Amino acid sequence: MRVTSILLKVLMAITGLAWFGFSITHLTANFLILKGADAFNGYAEGLAKFGPLLWVAEAGLVLLLLAHVGSAFRVTRMNKVARPQGYVVSQTRGEATLGSRTMAIGGVILLAFLIIHVKMFKFGDWSGGNGLHGLVVRSFKNPLIVGGYVLAMIAFGLHLSHGVASAFQTLGILKPSWRPRLKEIGFFIGWAIAFGFAALPIATFFFV
Ligand code: HEM
Repeated sequence: MRVTSILLKVLMAITGLAWFGFSITHLTANFLILKGADAFNGYAEGLAKFGPLLWVAEAGLVLLLLAHVGSAFRVTRMNKVARPQGYVVSQTRGEATLGSRTMAIGGVILLAFLIIHVKMFKFGDWSGGNGLHGLVVRSFKNPLIVGGYVLAMIAFGLHLSHGVASAFQTLGILKPSWRPRLKEIGFFIGWAIAFGFAALPIATFFFV
């Protein structure tokens, strides 16, 4: 494998894992939605108080995302040039999973989700009563939005179920005794996070 290709894979792994870390924090904080408006809005207002520090963190997230998408795009193109017929051999051997085969298209779906999501909540209209909590709850009372979120989280689960294991493998950061179980560990972690995110709109629709 060429050095550029290895460096790009390392960049893709590091930036992907950084976003994975953000997802865990975001998911944990989002469970406050189920606790009520005071708890959730209190958390959002607390975050906003960080002011310029928060903007730096947000700019960091955008840069990480650009680096992740950019390196993924370059690696995909390099693989296509090196192997124009695709992974015919590994597919027939059953080594390629649905998650691994849908990384690129899943990534594009997630990018679209992210743009719509941030526009809907971060830059949405918080003035309709109960602040940000009110906006989230009103949005998740719409079955079409709930359905869209659940579909997007299926794409997220597929992406993470392969991506997490792949990043661990690229960076070689897992204990040697865990390595044989790498695929199962990545699969479990990926779907657990996606399931948690998908549960939020569903629980809000029925119970909040
Ligand atoms: C399905 C459940 C989800 C809910 C209920 C949710 C909720 C929210 C809310 C309420 C905000 C606005 C926060 C604020 O402005 O203070 C937000 C922002 C954001 N969300 Fe989500 N989110 C969900 C899933 C996701 C997923 C899967 C991702 C991607 C990993 C994501 C990434 C983001 C990002 C990047 C922001 C902007 C953060 C910032 O600029 O501070 N969200 N989300």
